[in-house]
Amino acid sequence: MLARELLLAKRHGQTLERVAIDFLVEGMADGRLGDEQLGAFAMAVAIQGMDRTETVALTEAMRDSGRVMQWPGLDGPVLDKHSTGGIGDSTSFLIGPWLACCGAYVPMITGRGLGHTGGTCDKLESIPGYDTAPDPDRLDRIVRELGVAIIGQTSDLAPADRRLYAVRDVTGTVDCLPLIVASILSKKLAEGLDGLVLDVKFGSGAVMTDFEPARELAIALARTASAAGTPTRALLTDMNQGLGRTAGNALEIREIIELLNTPSPTGRLFELSRELSAELLLIGGLDADPAEARDRLDRAWASGAVAERFARMVHALGGPSDLMERPDQHLARAPVEVDLYPSESGRIESIDVRALGLAVIELGGGRRQASDAIDPAVGLSGLARIGDEVDAQRPLLRIHARKESEAERVGEALRRAYRISAAGAEAPALIAERIEV
Ligand code: URA
Repeated sequence: MLARELLLAKRHGQTLERVAIDFLVEGMADGRLGDEQLGAFAMAVAIQGMDRTETVALTEAMRDSGRVMQWPGLDGPVLDKHSTGGIGDSTSFLIGPWLACCGAYVPMITGRGLGHTGGTCDKLESIPGYDTAPDPDRLDRIVRELGVAIIGQTSDLAPADRRLYAVRDVTGTVDCLPLIVASILSKKLAEGLDGLVLDVKFGSGAVMTDFEPARELAIALARTASAAGTPTRALLTDMNQGLGRTAGNALEIREIIELLNTPSPTGRLFELSRELSAELLLIGGLDADPAEARDRLDRAWASGAVAERFARMVHALGGPSDLMERPDQHLARAPVEVDLYPSESGRIESIDVRALGLAVIELGGGRRQASDAIDPAVGLSGLARIGDEVDAQRPLLRIHARKESEAERVGEALRRAYRISAAGAEAPALIAERIEV
C-alpha cells in the first residue's frame, strides 16, 4: 500500500477500508509517515469526514498503536469516566475511589489542562510527592490492591494519537468530529475497560459551547466506543457555571478533601460525581437499576470508605499520608487573597465561565504554551452561582494570586464575566440528557 494513494482517495471523498486505516495508523506510530502526510490525512478527513465504520476502525487502530492494558484475574469490572473538560470539574477524584469502594477497578489516565479548561493531572501534581507517572507494574499493583489509581498520560498508550494531535494542533484540524472521537477514545480504551461513561459538557465554559454540537459529539463517542467493544453511555451536562466552588489546582484539591471529609455533601460537583458513578455501576453490571446504584454509593460514602480510599491512593502514589487531616501543611497557598465584589448589586443572570478559566491561566495556574510551569497555589475560590445574590458584602469570588497587581489585573476581566440583574436567572439543570446507544 502507498500512503500517497490512500491520502488521495480520502481527499476525493472515498471510504477507507480497515486495512488502509491500519496501514496509515501504523505509519503514524512507527514514523514511516511524515508530519506532512499526517497533516494531509487530518485535512482530508476534516473536509471529507469519515463514516461510522471508518471512525470505529480509526479508533481501534489508534488504541492498538501502543500498549493496551490487560486486567486478568480481577473480581470486578474495569471502569472509567472521561470528561470533555470544564472549570472546577474535579469529579475524577470522587468517582475513582467511590467506584473502587463499590467493587470496580479504575485505572484512570488523565490529561493536562487544555485551552481554558483545567487538567486532572495538573491538579494531582499540586500534591507533594504524588507520582503521576508510575511504571506499569506499580500501576497494576495499586489498581489491584486499592481498586483505583489516578495518573497522567503515559508515552506507551496510543502513540499514534500523540503525533496526530500535535499535527492537528498546527493544521487547523482540531475541531473535526471523527478525529476528536478517535483521539479521545483511543487513549481511554487503551486502559482495557469493561465500561466507560462520558461527561460531555456544553455552555460558556465548555469546549463546545452549543448544545447540539455537544450532543452530536456525545452520540458519536458513545456509539464508537460501544462498537469498539467497550459499553459506553454519555451524560450531557451544563457548564454555564463552574462545577465546583473553586478553579485552580491546589484549590480544587482542597475542595475535594473538604467534600470527602463531609458526611452528607450537597452541590453540583458532588451530585454529578454521584450520577456518573451510578451510570458506571449500571454499565459494569454491579447494579441492575439506578436506585440500587445510588443506594450502594450513598452507603459507601456514609461509611467514610471513599475518603479513606482516596487517602490510601494518594499515599500509595507517593503523596503524604496525612493529606486528608492536614491539607494546609501540604498544599501550596497563594500569598495574596482578595475578594472580588460586583460593580452593582443584584442576582447573577449569567457567567462567562471561559473567562474564569482564562483568569486562572493569567494568574499562572495554567499554561500559555506546553512548556510553561504551573503555579499550583493560584486560582479562584468561593465562586458564586447563577441566581445568587451579590453586593458590596457578598463577593462574586475570591482571587488567589502571587501579587496584588496580578489580582487587580484579572479582577477587572472577571467582573465583566458576570451579568447581574434584579431578577437574576434560575440555575440551569445539571444534566440535560442521558445518551444510551
Ligand atoms: N481531547 C483529546 O484528547 N483529543 C481531541 O481531539 C480533543 C480533546
